[in-house]
Amino acid sequence: MVNKKFYITTPIYYPNDIPHVGHAYTTIAADILSRWFRIRGYDVFFLTGTDDHGKKIALAAEKAGKSPKKFTDSLIPKFKEAWKKLNIKYDRFIRTTDKDHEKIVQEILQKTYDKGDIYKGEYEGYYCIGCEAYYTEKDLENGCCPIHKTKIEKLKEETYFFKLSKYQKALLDFYKKNPDFISPKNRRQEIINRVKEGLNDLSISRTSFNWGIPLPFDKKHICYVWQDALYNYYSATRQKGKEKYWPTNIHLIGKDILWFHSVYWPAFLISAGISLPNCVFAHGWWTFDKEKISKSRGKVINVDELVAIAGVDSARYFLFREGVFGEDSDFSEKILIERHNNELANKLGNLVSRVTNLAEKNQIQKTTNNLLKKLKLKQIEKLIKNYELDKALNLIFEFIDICNEYVQNKKPWETKDKKVLYELVDSIKAIAILLWPFIPETSEKIAKQIGFKIKFDEIKKPIPANKIKKSEILFKKI
Ligand code: ME8
Ligand code: MG
Repeated sequence: MVNKKFYITTPIYYPNDIPHVGHAYTTIAADILSRWFRIRGYDVFFLTGTDDHGKKIALAAEKAGKSPKKFTDSLIPKFKEAWKKLNIKYDRFIRTTDKDHEKIVQEILQKTYDKGDIYKGEYEGYYCIGCEAYYTEKDLENGCCPIHKTKIEKLKEETYFFKLSKYQKALLDFYKKNPDFISPKNRRQEIINRVKEGLNDLSISRTSFNWGIPLPFDKKHICYVWQDALYNYYSATRQKGKEKYWPTNIHLIGKDILWFHSVYWPAFLISAGISLPNCVFAHGWWTFDKEKISKSRGKVINVDELVAIAGVDSARYFLFREGVFGEDSDFSEKILIERHNNELANKLGNLVSRVTNLAEKNQIQKTTNNLLKKLKLKQIEKLIKNYELDKALNLIFEFIDICNEYVQNKKPWETKDKKVLYELVDSIKAIAILLWPFIPETSEKIAKQIGFKIKFDEIKKPIPANKIKKSEILFKKI
């Protein structure tokens, strides 16, 4: 039987600086979900990468005194190192300068042009280089970009337009038939309302600089960076053996770029006759004192700094336990350390160390695991399938609390009860498997000491009658 597939993507980030906690957040979320679907037996394709073209990159390169290609080449390793450091296991790292991507972009543009959905005209209006986005007068706040709060440039140039207005009805019908396409639910109505107000045709080419993919039907123009970028999700599946992954199951993004993903992207696809993704999930922002963490606003914590606080797993854990996945959360080093100490070290770490210590000395004896019946496995599965990652973590930690209470009540250090120890070791196995997507390094350590495989089916299988080894300290208190 063929395994079910799961195709998940992150945004492709602008390589104009090193990645920070915001980029890490989306990429870890994608890693958690792909690890989860992998242990559930799905054939997973996890795509991430960088958005190399456009004015923003061209300007940053100029400032660094390098060509855009050399400049981006120097930053890509920083992204790859950061993802490695965070234990992120993607299947492909795509760059919009990859030849296979450029070829697909040109093919689709030609197709869209032949269909009559692209026409020549003149664009006159505002453009924020930070967003790489067009704005109308009424979008601006005191003449500044509403996102970046910076002065905005006024453009007047010959351009090709995509007939976005033509797709208003098709989009509204699509949202109606696919209520989960825009997720979480609370982000849906705002997009629908804006689309109902009407859509302007979209300027999709530039002539005033040349860092981009030339339009196949007019080489004087380069493709608008957002169109080029959005196609990456599709072009990655045009490689041999990857076709089966289309359409995307979930595009994970931040709420800042929901409009591009929920309006432009499906319109481009409908126009090109390509089937549409299942879901665009827009999470909230990490903030510092309620201000978005962002390079352009100067408030950042980069990946090295994040990991230095309390280690990789504590960082991954904090990011998905602290806020509601979907909403904004304020970043606090203090709370990260508190969670590391109170939840990872005291609750999980102590449970594992006490139990494995006793099990090493006293051995265990197989029995029915009544303790494990208190684990809400079905609910946890359902939550993760709904992308409610924080709630799933909560339920897993509720079970850790139950196990700790069980130790307190049964006092196995006095009774040396081999069956109680069995129940505990077997329950720790279940906990470690369920936590693996979130904190893989820790789970793998536990699996090695107790002797089981990180597979979903192992949750319900009795643990092998191994000699249990006392656990090393999983989390040192800070
Ligand atoms: O927008 N909190 O790239 P980008 C949470 N190249 N997530 C954050 C965040 C924060 N404070 N800051 C950034 C682009 N992110 C385009 C995307 S896709 C076809 C093209 C995350 O480098 C979040 O996922 O500005 C956000 O959407 C993304 O980084 C923006 O990254
Ligand atoms: Mg941005």
